[in-house]
Amino acid sequence: MATLHVLDHPLIQHKLAILRNAETGVKEFRELISEIAGLMCYEATRNLPTEEVEVQTPVAVAKCRMLSGKKLAIVPVLRAGLGMVDSMVDMIPSAKIGHIGLYRDPETHQPVEYYCKLPEDIENRVVFVVDPMLATGGSAVAAIDFLKAKGCRNIIMMNIIGCPEGVKAVQEAHPDVELYVAAVDEKLNDHAYIIPGLGDAGDRIFGTK
Ligand code: PRP
Ligand code: URA
Repeated sequence: MATLHVLDHPLIQHKLAILRNAETGVKEFRELISEIAGLMCYEATRNLPTEEVEVQTPVAVAKCRMLSGKKLAIVPVLRAGLGMVDSMVDMIPSAKIGHIGLYRDPETHQPVEYYCKLPEDIENRVVFVVDPMLATGGSAVAAIDFLKAKGCRNIIMMNIIGCPEGVKAVQEAHPDVELYVAAVDEKLNDHAYIIPGLGDAGDRIFGTK
């Protein structure tokens, strides 16, 4: 079963409360998505392997730890996942970035793929898939299916808001994937929007409605 990590850190929860508010404007919404992603990145990278290195300080040699093992990649699900990329790259500047374009068909709520460009060596990397919303789970499952078809075996999913339906879908389809969310909301409505959620993440990040 995919491990679900709900990040209940006070800073994340405080920012999430402002993010959800219908009165929060586009600029602040975009900044908050980025800030929350940066804080979530801190937790989602907690189990990355490190190795001991010796560093010459101005006065002595210090035994330090640096990241080791596989290189990293960040894959936003377009569009809304783009809002989470910059703060992740600030933390992990050497990560390569792939893009998977999916939109939900408004009638069927099924994901439709329209773009995919991934680093050539993606199968050798630990991949962080980022998307603010995990609703039916269709987009997350499709993105992970896609990455696995390319040979990726080490995948971590990061969503800001999930719901029971989406968590279940990812856990059933991809039990090996670690799932990090800031909240698991109550349910989906008839249009497959998360309740209470925050509305349409893509529209609020890019100001399209
Ligand atoms: C949103 C969101 C996820 C998806 C979640 O994207 O960013 O990708 O819906 O829903 P699901 O779990 O039911 O698949 P949307 O399809 O609205 O596209 P956008 O990012 O371009 O706005
Ligand atoms: N996509 C969103 O942006 N919001 C939801 O509540 C569900 C899917």
